[in-house]
Amino acid sequence: MENMAIACLIAYLLGSIPNGLVFGKLLWHIDLREHGSHNIGATNAWRTLGKGPGFLIFLLDFLKGALSVWLGSLLAGTPMAMVLAGVLAIVGHSCSLFLKFKGGKGVATGLGVIVMMMPLPALIVFLVWLAIVKISGYVSLGSIVAAALVPVLAWQFGYPVEYIGFGVLAAAFIIIRHHANIGRLLSGTESKIKAGHR
Ligand code: G3P
Repeated sequence: MENMAIACLIAYLLGSIPNGLVFGKLLWHIDLREHGSHNIGATNAWRTLGKGPGFLIFLLDFLKGALSVWLGSLLAGTPMAMVLAGVLAIVGHSCSLFLKFKGGKGVATGLGVIVMMMPLPALIVFLVWLAIVKISGYVSLGSIVAAALVPVLAWQFGYPVEYIGFGVLAAAFIIIRHHANIGRLLSGTESKIKAGHR
């Protein structure tokens, strides 16, 4: 129990690290909150700073999720510990301790979590996301559909009920975090992804 609490605390702190903001300011002297979608995530880093920075932020945010689940498994070793650590990494990213409980949308961190928990569904989710982004140009649309797919695949692949519950919770959370994108998609004002446009 104590180990699970420690894993959760570390996961939240790890998730709270605002990579997009820190590296955007440190390496490119740009505050992502003042450009593009104003989000601190990889998509806005790609849009604002270019492909390389976008990929770097994606990787760092992805690692926050993957490391948190790994810690949950190492310290407590139960599906529930892995689920809670994963949830807290995503919550940390979106409600960061270092940003007055504001933050990103949790997609890259969420992918890191599901890669560790359910590798095959994670691969399918990633490919669906990629296809939607390629075809439509809207990253947010890909993220919303991909998030909704997680609980369905967890159930279809026969994962434990904790994982299905995680999928439902994470999907709802990520979709809610995209409320502004949903508004823009519906009104036709969402911007398509193109690297390097401030
Ligand atoms: O992962 C976030 C993505 O789905 C949307 O990002 O910057 O277009 O709001 P953004």
